[in-house]
Amino acid sequence: MKFFIDTADVNEIKSAMEMGLIDGVTTNPTLISKTGRPFLEVAKEILEIVPGPVSLEVVSLDTQGMVDEARQLAKLGDNVVIKIPMTTEGLKAVKILSSEGIKTNVTLVFSPLQALLAAKAGATYVSPFVGRLDDIGHDGMELISQVVQIYENYGFETEIIVASVRHPQHVLQAALIGADIATIPYKVIKQLAKHPLTDIGIERFLEDWAKVPDRESIF
Ligand code: E4P
Repeated sequence: MKFFIDTADVNEIKSAMEMGLIDGVTTNPTLISKTGRPFLEVAKEILEIVPGPVSLEVVSLDTQGMVDEARQLAKLGDNVVIKIPMTTEGLKAVKILSSEGIKTNVTLVFSPLQALLAAKAGATYVSPFVGRLDDIGHDGMELISQVVQIYENYGFETEIIVASVRHPQHVLQAALIGADIATIPYKVIKQLAKHPLTDIGIERFLEDWAKVPDRESIF
């Protein structure tokens, strides 16, 4: 299973990279605006740090506008992936871009049929949003199971990115279902590593180590 980090904060990206966990990055206009920095400056810095796929989102709503933005963004690096919203105009853009060899990530996917359309249009990645579905009383992870099954039924190569991840249980469920990727906020990545029994264990070992007579002459 691949882990992407869902952030535009370069310090978070660097820290997660140092842990050896990060295979790629996803951004969106909200995450970019949180940095308070110019879009292109942030995008270029992320692309310098991360060798894996980096999703950058278009903001046009019409096919031609999306394609024009995508072509510009794709020039920033071989690892750029263009995030396209799940609309009919977006699907047309995905078809054009995939024929040009530009990688796409169809975002804001909330139903299995939307995911099926994204794959048929030739998307490289599809991003079903689990947290936002849970927020309105639906079952986000059920959507992931359905998309995995549909893609397996027909042998689609589009990779499934579990997006809008809110907590470690989303990551666990994604791994059990067999999703290709989870894109995870930095806060949740840190939660994945944490367990109270690990902290208690370290504390006890250090207390006991303090009783070992020759400890100061060893290190
Ligand atoms: C996915 O690529 C999106 O950037 C992201 O997961 C959205 O998550 P949110 O619902 O927490 O905004």
